[in-house]
Amino acid sequence: MNTRPYIPGDETRIMTIQRYIAQEERMHPGATGEFSTLLRNLALAVKVVSREVRRAGLVDILGKASTSNVSGDEVKKLDVFANDMIINALESGGQLCVMASEENETVIPIPEEFPCGGYAMLFDPLDGSSNIDANVTIGTVFSIFKRVSKGVRGTVEDVVQPGYRQVAAGYIMYGSSTIMVFTTGKGVQGFTLDPTIGAFLLSHPDLTIPKRGNIYSVNEGNRQMWDEGFRRYIDYVQSDDPATGRPYKGRYVGSMIADVHRTILYGGVFAYPGDTKNPEGKLRLLYEANPVAFLVEQAGGRATDGHRRILDIEPTDVHQRTPLLLGSTDDVLIAEEFINGKR
Ligand code: AHG
Ligand code: MN
Ligand code: MN
Repeated sequence: MNTRPYIPGDETRIMTIQRYIAQEERMHPGATGEFSTLLRNLALAVKVVSREVRRAGLVDILGKASTSNVSGDEVKKLDVFANDMIINALESGGQLCVMASEENETVIPIPEEFPCGGYAMLFDPLDGSSNIDANVTIGTVFSIFKRVSKGVRGTVEDVVQPGYRQVAAGYIMYGSSTIMVFTTGKGVQGFTLDPTIGAFLLSHPDLTIPKRGNIYSVNEGNRQMWDEGFRRYIDYVQSDDPATGRPYKGRYVGSMIADVHRTILYGGVFAYPGDTKNPEGKLRLLYEANPVAFLVEQAGGRATDGHRRILDIEPTDVHQRTPLLLGSTDDVLIAEEFINGKR
């Protein structure tokens, strides 16, 4: 497949998301184009979210002068805005049969006036929301399944599926630039938004995670509530052993997407373990852990809850949580040995 990277200055080598997906679909004779339309609609929605993220500081300043915007509406919080934007952009396209979002307690049906499609999507519209006001990187995460229910409309059954059945997953990171990283199960591709032409261009073809890294990423404020094994693992990465790159560097943004993106690029380990207060950790299985686990595996890394593969967990609830441990294969294996008392 032609995945020649976008090279700034060489306009003839541009590969947009649409072109990439269309090319992938052409390789599958049965493909209907439904999936590329879905991705195109999602790309449009997140471009608008990206624009709002870029304006957020400004809007806040204006918001202080008056509590409502020009049309008299209350200025929406960014996570509510992102949620509404994604739902509105995708519900009418005809590709989805149902959606689920971190912001909605129950599944989001496709209104009856719109056709019902063959896919179901879960998403976290704004990940890292505690970082918004500090101008720190935030993101959007999505996970896509094929529909399994048989009725006229999609049901909760279509979104509560194990991660290994995902047909696509990805995230959009609103960082120093906006990047969309996604997989359809054939490796991981990263597309950077070129704001001058409003298109996502292939900038990171075939992302692979280093086999071992030297960065650990975890909220150490929870240390006293961790299990003994995980505490000992963190002692291990902090101890001096130049031969294995220790002590590791500590990096924790507090936006999962930013921490996972760095882990994919530089290697190392990202963890949000369970603790005595929250035995299942904090992150949500279906729209946080599953999509990043799919991406990390596709990039050649490993993603588990310390004991089992994230993608093999049989879910029971849209909003259930799971401990999460992911990153470079060698690092995750070592962490698992500590967690399971083998070291
Ligand atoms: P969200 O903003 O969607 O609620 O997710 C926040 C998550 C995730 O982005 C991050 O990894 C984690 O919360 C940080 O939690 P702590 O503040 O407990 O470290
Ligand atoms: Mn989140
Ligand atoms: Mn969120």
